[in-house]
Amino acid sequence: MQKISRQLRQRHQSIGFVPTMGALHEGHLSLVDRARRENRIVVVSIFVNPRQFGLREDLARYPRPFRKDLQLCEKKKVDFIFYPTLRQMYPEDFHTHVEVEDLSEVLCGKSRPGHFRGVATVVTKLFNIILPHRAYFGRKDAQQAVVIQRMVKDLNMAVSVKVMPTVREKDGLAMSSRNTHLKPQERKDAVVLSESLSLARKLITGGEKSAATIIDRMRNHIAKKPSAKTDYIAIVNGKTLEPVKKVCAGCLIALAVRIGKTRLIDNYIA
Ligand code: PAF
Repeated sequence: MQKISRQLRQRHQSIGFVPTMGALHEGHLSLVDRARRENRIVVVSIFVNPRQFGLREDLARYPRPFRKDLQLCEKKKVDFIFYPTLRQMYPEDFHTHVEVEDLSEVLCGKSRPGHFRGVATVVTKLFNIILPHRAYFGRKDAQQAVVIQRMVKDLNMAVSVKVMPTVREKDGLAMSSRNTHLKPQERKDAVVLSESLSLARKLITGGEKSAATIIDRMRNHIAKKPSAKTDYIAIVNGKTLEPVKKVCAGCLIALAVRIGKTRLIDNYIA
């Protein structure tokens, strides 16, 4: 793949890259569309990265519908799919990791220690292999986007990181590969994430500034669904991820909620 990318670059063909763990949905495809519009060549990677899953997390049951993914990529005229094996990515003598300090330890990093180290490491490897001019990430994983943007800046990586809007189901649920794990009642309950963000937006538009008040109201709304268990709700500075007391423009309102056994995330930028 690296050899191909080098040749493309020599021929001055721009490379747009969409990193994924497969189980592609409309959210991924919107990134592919954007990459298609902005680049001559589009590369999609499909690799379920074990190093970003904790010991008790859902690595084994992560969906892997490779044939369907392939068809979707073909339909979108993706030029290359990079689909490495585990051993190609992590040979037995693999020893190096990338850690973006502080930003990786808050929000999702608190309940998923090591997750962003795994993400930063694999994304660095993918950037080094695919040599993209532009890389496309979804806003749903807001903390991931902040971590990657920081890593690219700190390590002088020659890639432009593009963060694209969250794509939602009709009822507001943010698209995610993990939604396929939801049982029918859980799927209905999962709408509480986007509902609580809409509630936050309504409160903010109505003049409420107190982060604590907004978080309380969101928590109470989520508690109404028996299958929902809030992991965290936070209102933070959108760049530093530090908590704020008063909501301001550019603040990130982020939450993670367990619906049954499935942990879902969503966010909204004030
Ligand atoms: O967002 C994802 O699907 C993954 O975290 C990524 C960026 C492909 C790295 O494994």
